[in-house]
Amino acid sequence: MTVKALRGTIQIPGDKSISHRSVMFGSIAEGTTTINGFLPGDDCLSTISCFQKLGVDIQMIDEQSVVVKGKGIQALKEPSDILDVGNSGTTIRLMMGILANTPFHSTMIGDESIAKRPMKRVTGPLRDMNIHLDGRKDANFTPLVIRGGQAKGIHYTSPVASAQVKSAILLAGLQAEGTTSVTEPAKSRDHTERMLEAFGVKVEEEGLTVSIEGGQTLRGTHVEVPGDISSAAFFLVAGAIIANSRIEIQKVGMNPTRTGILDVLSNMGASIETVKETKETAEPYADLVVEASHLKGTEVGGDLIPRLIDEIPIIALAATQAEGITVIKDAAELKVKETNRIDTVVNELTKMGANIEATEDGMIIHGGTKLHGANVNSHGDHRIGMMLAVASCIAEGETIIENRDAVSVSYPQFFAHLESLQQ
Ligand code: S3P
Repeated sequence: MTVKALRGTIQIPGDKSISHRSVMFGSIAEGTTTINGFLPGDDCLSTISCFQKLGVDIQMIDEQSVVVKGKGIQALKEPSDILDVGNSGTTIRLMMGILANTPFHSTMIGDESIAKRPMKRVTGPLRDMNIHLDGRKDANFTPLVIRGGQAKGIHYTSPVASAQVKSAILLAGLQAEGTTSVTEPAKSRDHTERMLEAFGVKVEEEGLTVSIEGGQTLRGTHVEVPGDISSAAFFLVAGAIIANSRIEIQKVGMNPTRTGILDVLSNMGASIETVKETKETAEPYADLVVEASHLKGTEVGGDLIPRLIDEIPIIALAATQAEGITVIKDAAELKVKETNRIDTVVNELTKMGANIEATEDGMIIHGGTKLHGANVNSHGDHRIGMMLAVASCIAEGETIIENRDAVSVSYPQFFAHLESLQQ
């Protein structure tokens, strides 16, 4: 269906990465943590349910307000049930770091997608810290079993720029003997570092290395969660590629480790204005206004990739509408996301008439194509579902998106917001 224009104002839901961490850190802190702007998406609800199984008192006051009554990490109890993380890679990987500091046995599972995602990137370094872990294929896949204990600090040089890996090791380092540090090949999102500091933990950063001293205690605090720039990205691109559009998106997180999408869209010629930026909070935020624009192709790679890794599906869609060629490279990490996002993006957009080819570490898109309606599939990947919904707005003819409910992982009101803006 070709949509005439998207116009109006929306407030996108809370940041997924920050919402997860607020519940996790509140659960291991001493004292109460209040969270405002929490994302009630399936992934973050999985995190709440796992910590409730570990004996933490967590209450949802309303859709976006959560109160966590932490009693310190020592108060976590051995779970009598399996911890089910659903579709959430952040939950399983960060929880391993936290469970490394508990003297009991826990088993973790997730859905079909989680069962295919590599866990050795976390279980490997945690084993180096003397933590007992097991799982399929030598602890690379779920179900995973962990028995925490006395970790010893390590220095870990990660082969991938991954905030999940960095965060898991730093969290294990919280109670470890001595110092724990992680060096990354490029800087990944730093929400863990920022939030640990807000909970009273000292974290040191030098270049691409982050270090933490063992034996530190977290103190409950208030967490203000800004809107998720990864969710805003769908409307930033929709506003730019749908003629006559103008969308104001309120309270979007502007952490510089996450704003790669703004750099790319600006390079492509999109008109995006930043208004009312607030920098006083642990996580900065701003209102963004996007207007329909003439886009041109670009190159996306290098250190920019970790700053926009989750936005690549929607960038690929923007590129199909841009003049010229767009090359996305250095993004092999896409293969181990909720789906293999190189394959799902290329296959699903090809069904709609895009000129797009997969490469070993990204994709090449020849722009300026008119998309047509088709029978497409999210394959259970929330970001693929939202990207296809935006694509359907510019496609001629009817598009049917199978498994569209996957969007509830990170953006339960996505379709309602999209409809509310349609002219
Ligand atoms: C996340 C980190 C990223 C990102 C994911 C959320 C986080 O994964 O893709 O959606 O909250 O730390 P990697 O750290 O594996 O790149």
